[in-house]
Amino acid sequence: MWDPQQYLRHSGPRLRPVLDLLAHVPGRLPGHPRVRIADLGCGPGGPSAPLAERWPEAHITGYDNSPEMLREAEAHARPGRLDFAHADLARWRPDPAESFGLLFSNAAFHWVPGHQHAFPDWIAALPSGGTLAFQVPGNFSAPSHTLLAELCGSARWGGRIAAAAPVDAVLTPAEYAEILAPLGPDGCDVDAWETTYLHRLTGPDPVLEWVKGTTLRPVLARLGDDPAARDDFLAEYAEALRAAYPRGADGTTAFPFRRVFVVAVKR
Ligand SMILES: C[S@@+](CC[C@H](N)C(=O)[O-])C[C@H]1O[C@@H](n2cnc3c(N)ncnc32)[C@H](O)[C@@H]1O
Repeated sequence: MWDPQQYLRHSGPRLRPVLDLLAHVPGRLPGHPRVRIADLGCGPGGPSAPLAERWPEAHITGYDNSPEMLREAEAHARPGRLDFAHADLARWRPDPAESFGLLFSNAAFHWVPGHQHAFPDWIAALPSGGTLAFQVPGNFSAPSHTLLAELCGSARWGGRIAAAAPVDAVLTPAEYAEILAPLGPDGCDVDAWETTYLHRLTGPDPVLEWVKGTTLRPVLARLGDDPAARDDFLAEYAEALRAAYPRGADGTTAFPFRRVFVVAVKR
């Protein structure tokens, strides 16, 4: 169960990588100006607005497998321009009747282990010049994640939530480039890089509040029927996070966040 409101609390810093990714996607895509765009793992529709702004005549479809996120996203729908559909990215393949110029995804593929195995089909479905562009968090070895993994495997919690520990399904920029470069009859031009953002968070337990919207979601779902255990778990995790991410003299909490970006243009 996703909680769109919790996720949207950090919509400002979460939008920046979308803009950084879009800045590296070619402006003129196949089908121009009515480019067909898929937003894979669209969530509550955050990146839809910048996509629609960049390609004002495009027809964009956001795909997601969370009913809660899709309900929230519907508020952004515009007939013929922007719509949303239920899909599981592990199985989603472009409809051959569509000719997508851009397959876009922000902060979603890390929830889909083995997502790279879909790349050959996705690139095959693109016309020449068509682009796959995505961003994934690459912070699984950061304290926010390692501390959570330790707690999930601890004697106290392991029996209930071991399966909710974060799983690192993200490859390095070089690994993504190696997979994508040979795909298609003439290969792909691949631009892959990583950036570590330094978020400066405010308020009490700000790192906990951030991960509540994403990484912590499977744990919270498993403890959902036991509020007392949920509160105990959050108190223990919050204490560990406070030690790993102390508040600075100016009152902000520095939260480094590595992200991996890939733009593959089919030749
Ligand atoms: C962190 S949110 C990102 C949402 C949006 N792209 C954004 O940038 O605001 C991750 C999204 O991926 C979706 N997701 C996770 N696994 C998925 C799957 N197997 N199929 C489709 N969507 C999935 C979740 O439902 C969630 O909405």
